Amino acid sequence: MRKITLGDLAAAVSNSGGYGQVAASGLSEERLRAEIKKAKALTSKPIGVNIPLHRPNALEALEIAVEMEIRTITTSGGSPKKIMDRVRAAGLKVFHKVSTTDMGLKAQDAGVDGVIAMGFEAGGHGGRDQVTTFCLVPQLADVLDIPVIASGGIGDARGIVAAFALGAEGVEIGTRFAATRECPVPAYYKEAIVSARDRDTLVLGQDIMPLRALRNPVVERLADPKASGQVGLLASGYLESDGSAQTSIMPSGQVAGLIHGIETVSDLFAEWIGHAREVSKRLNALFGEGTS
Ligand SMILES: Cc1cc2nc3c(=O)[nH]c(=O)nc-3n(C[C@H](O)[C@H](O)[C@H](O)COP(=O)(O)O)c2cc1C
Repeated sequence: MRKITLGDLAAAVSNSGGYGQVAASGLSEERLRAEIKKAKALTSKPIGVNIPLHRPNALEALEIAVEMEIRTITTSGGSPKKIMDRVRAAGLKVFHKVSTTDMGLKAQDAGVDGVIAMGFEAGGHGGRDQVTTFCLVPQLADVLDIPVIASGGIGDARGIVAAFALGAEGVEIGTRFAATRECPVPAYYKEAIVSARDRDTLVLGQDIMPLRALRNPVVERLADPKASGQVGLLASGYLESDGSAQTSIMPSGQVAGLIHGIETVSDLFAEWIGHAREVSKRLNALFGEGTS
């Protein structure tokens, strides 16, 4: 997550059993190097780098990832074709974010190692085609020969187990990590996620570069189709704004309605693993061998 999943949060996720990523978006070369270095100092587990390919620093970020011995990167927002030669030469693995089956097929043709299927309910910048995670993941799993990671709308063990049931081989979680103790966003942002309900997000810039964010007066004004030209500009400054929950753009998924507290990353992982076992037992009782 842009300017959020930096060294501390990436390391906390990897130390808890996930695959933490340092978001390269919006970072200078020095800052990106420093955040990767920090993450590596805080964990001995692998960490990744997320590189939105449409951002001006994409190619620089890729070189830094190679130089700092990152093994797997994730990419979004643009075609992975332009980086594949470099990725292969450096022996990196790459998972590319897609929001339709056509995008998934193109990414597979380009040679990526897997796709991250991002549904319309997800927080942050998403696809224009409004395909939900529940529909996108199984369709991609059916048409692709490479692994599919589910992203969008996953906030607890039920979502994680459901994603695997749909054919995913992993999950990518955004909004839930924004409301953690380790997350460096302002307290009002975390509290706004915790108090949000299911209808409290809106999509801005639907025709240009859709961004799902928490509803407030600024976001309501920008969601007006006549204002969509301003969205890229304003959204790029969401964390710099010294504002409040009423004046800032706070990217968030619909899953905010499922988030009821600000916890530590390690507590979340422990809770998810325990609860996933219970959910699996319930499913086994319903569908396991010997049941009718
Ligand atoms: C605040 C915020 C910032 C994000 N920044 C990025 C980013 O820089 N690069 C990217 O590929 N995805 C970004 N995303 C999308 C997430 O990686 C992920 O796909 C999404 O949050 C999943 O949906 P969820 O929010 O329902 O968990 C961002 C999401 C949020 C909420």
